[in-house]
Amino acid sequence: DGFAAEKLFNQGFSYTYDDVIFLPNYIDFAADTVQLKTNLSRNLPLSVPFVASPMDTVSESAMAAAMASLGGIAIIHSNTTAAVQASLVRAAKSRRVPILHDPVFLPPSAEIASVDDFSDSPFILVTESGNPKSTLLGYVSRDDWLKTNQNDKGSRVGDYLVESPVTVPWSYDLAKIDATLNEKKANSVGLVRDDGELVDLVTREDVDRVKGYPKLLAQGSVGPDGEWIVGAAIGTREQDKERLEQLVKAGVNVVVLDSSQGNSIYQLEMIKYIKKVYPEIDVIGGNVVTSYQADSLIQAGADGLRVGMGSGSICTTQEVCAVGRGQATAVYKVSCTAYKSGIPVIADGGISNSGHIVKALSLGASTVMMGSFLAGSTEAPGAYVYQNGQRVKKYRGMGSLEAMTQGSDQRYLGDTAKLKIAQGVVGAVKDKGSVLNFIPYTLQAVRQGFQDLGANSLESAHNLLRSRELRLEVRTGAAQVEGGIHGLVSYEKKYF
Ligand code: XMP
Repeated sequence: DGFAAEKLFNQGFSYTYDDVIFLPNYIDFAADTVQLKTNLSRNLPLSVPFVASPMDTVSESAMAAAMASLGGIAIIHSNTTAAVQASLVRAAKSRRVPILHDPVFLPPSAEIASVDDFSDSPFILVTESGNPKSTLLGYVSRDDWLKTNQNDKGSRVGDYLVESPVTVPWSYDLAKIDATLNEKKANSVGLVRDDGELVDLVTREDVDRVKGYPKLLAQGSVGPDGEWIVGAAIGTREQDKERLEQLVKAGVNVVVLDSSQGNSIYQLEMIKYIKKVYPEIDVIGGNVVTSYQADSLIQAGADGLRVGMGSGSICTTQEVCAVGRGQATAVYKVSCTAYKSGIPVIADGGISNSGHIVKALSLGASTVMMGSFLAGSTEAPGAYVYQNGQRVKKYRGMGSLEAMTQGSDQRYLGDTAKLKIAQGVVGAVKDKGSVLNFIPYTLQAVRQGFQDLGANSLESAHNLLRSRELRLEVRTGAAQVEGGIHGLVSYEKKYF
């Protein structure tokens, strides 16, 4: 029944994930046993095939620590200065718990003039000299301070200090921090790096919240340096070489060349430069959607390929530039070329449910990169606001005018000085809670999809694809309607 991918994708149509459907196969294993370990790039293994996109409303330190703790990875965006981007990488790598507050440091003698001095952090960390390298005395909680400072008036840090001098090494995991909190009867512990620098405070509340999530999966993504594996995006200009130097010093594990059309002389030269100067760091090229583009980047030395053009939820590239490809076709075509050279493929954009992830991975991708799917989470940058009664966070395309004004226009190789052409939009995404909570469910749904296909691992799914045992068909418009929820009126519990 059905068709092999080879036949379906060679008929001149550009298919998206929703256009195709897989036929079920034979099951002889439990869903729980499905192995999804994979490689992000040639030399970078992951236990979970999920990647957070380098976008400034998706991937900063909190997302990076959370994704790594789940066994995936985040790529820190480059829509900021090199120094800030490097500090985001460093912050994510400074702990072994998926908890990150980005605290402000002050000495006890300092004044808090207004709530802005907390800089969106739940507390100010108080050290002897106000420097992260001096002794931790305790903290001032933003909530406590607000309660007693109704008028938002100035006050001295020392007056609100909650003493909490207990510190533990940054490498402590949740279990060890939990045990320390109990043993010392403390309500918080400071995380200290080997060089004595205080990086954050973990509270009893933080630990209890995270402990309540579905069992934190597999092993987290830990690199040879013993720290979380964190990626970063860079561009292909001369100044990106300096940026890269700072990122490497911060301990970045992999770099992604962030461009909407990756097959350019700038990118080929940058790949060659990185492979020569930093042979130990994997470089991911892209974006590409054709075999020709893929081949070009592979020849230049790319260790991984990012696939997708115009398929993202906030993208307008296909409409503005008339260029791109349906994501299912793009992933299949590029993966056929990359497979011959053993180069892993990242299916980037267009993921809005677990079924899309199953499709991307079964069509040859080794990982999926997600923007909107992770936006709106606790770990995404930015504050929640209420809009028409809904709690939302901003999510914007890196090619939106708003983002490009901050520097991301180099991703589109446009004219930075005069006319900026938007290839993306700004939107908002509903509050989804923590990725630590919903990613485990997504992963389990993906495992169940693999079970239906008779694939007990990612490798076995790729083997089914290559041996033509993966069978699929195109869904008609009516079949797509049938495949979604239909024929119901809304369910109002009070009547039942
Ligand atoms: P999702 O669908 O996961 O897509 O939200 C995220 C991916 O979309 C790409 N991206 C853009 N593409 N204009 C575009 O054409 C944009 O402004 C833009 N911003 C992000 C990017 O590949 C990302 O990973």
